[in-house]
Amino acid sequence: MRLILLGPPGSGKGTQAKRLVEEHNIPQLSTGDMLRAAAAAGSDTGKRAKAIMDAGKLVSDDIVNAIVSERIDQADCANGFILDGYPRTLPQADAVETMLLEKGTQLDAVVELRVDDDAMVERIAGRYTCSNCGAGYHDTLKMPSKTGVCDKCGGAEFKRRPDDNAEAMRTRLQVYYKETSPLIGYYYAKGLLRPVDGMAEIEAVGIEIAAVLGSL
Ligand code: AP5
Repeated sequence: MRLILLGPPGSGKGTQAKRLVEEHNIPQLSTGDMLRAAAAAGSDTGKRAKAIMDAGKLVSDDIVNAIVSERIDQADCANGFILDGYPRTLPQADAVETMLLEKGTQLDAVVELRVDDDAMVERIAGRYTCSNCGAGYHDTLKMPSKTGVCDKCGGAEFKRRPDDNAEAMRTRLQVYYKETSPLIGYYYAKGLLRPVDGMAEIEAVGIEIAAVLGSL
């Protein structure tokens, strides 16, 4: 299964990708996570990427395409993968098509998470993750069972993303509508687009995605 999760910041791409990893035993390829790892490693590319990400803008197509191309060559991607946050521009969409053609394969579906912008600002403002295992939580929408303790690993340290603030969020939404939303028509025309109601509860969104994928 080769799948793209498409949707604005906060639409639930990462949340649903993690569920799909468990259901299909294929890796989540999050370009946001990969770029944050490069930034944390302190490479020149990572440092440049961090400044762009913190402002809510897009890292250049060349850098992101190169990162993804290298990643999908790895053995754990042989049976498929979930692209989370990539492609995000039309040139990136062309690039992934070429990458897959070169491997003699193609995309199975593009799941579009449809959401309301106002709710996205609320989701992003309350989001935090476990510093140890990366499990995702929210101040009101998805709290750990025991306050201050990660359900998955028992960790007690949590962190928030520097781009999860009101100003960067406004830029991220503007960038989404200008650069990324044209991909909806692009994939519709290819017969790959599968819209899903991203405003439903997390569990219900997961069930709808499973039904969509089951019908392919
Ligand atoms: P990236 O890390 O991809 O961020 P994003 O696209 O802005 O998406 P988010 O991770 O913010 O949201 P999400 O849709 O994954 O939602 P989540 O599941 O966390 O990119 C960050 C930056 O990196 C970009 O701005 C750019 O600079 C750079 N970058 C990345 N890829 C790039 C590319 N291809 N090209 C160029 N630059 C790139 O959910 C959010 C919250 O809501 C969570 O707290 C969750 O618990 C909660 N939630 C989720 N679903 C629901 C639900 N159904 N109901 C209630 N709450 C929910």
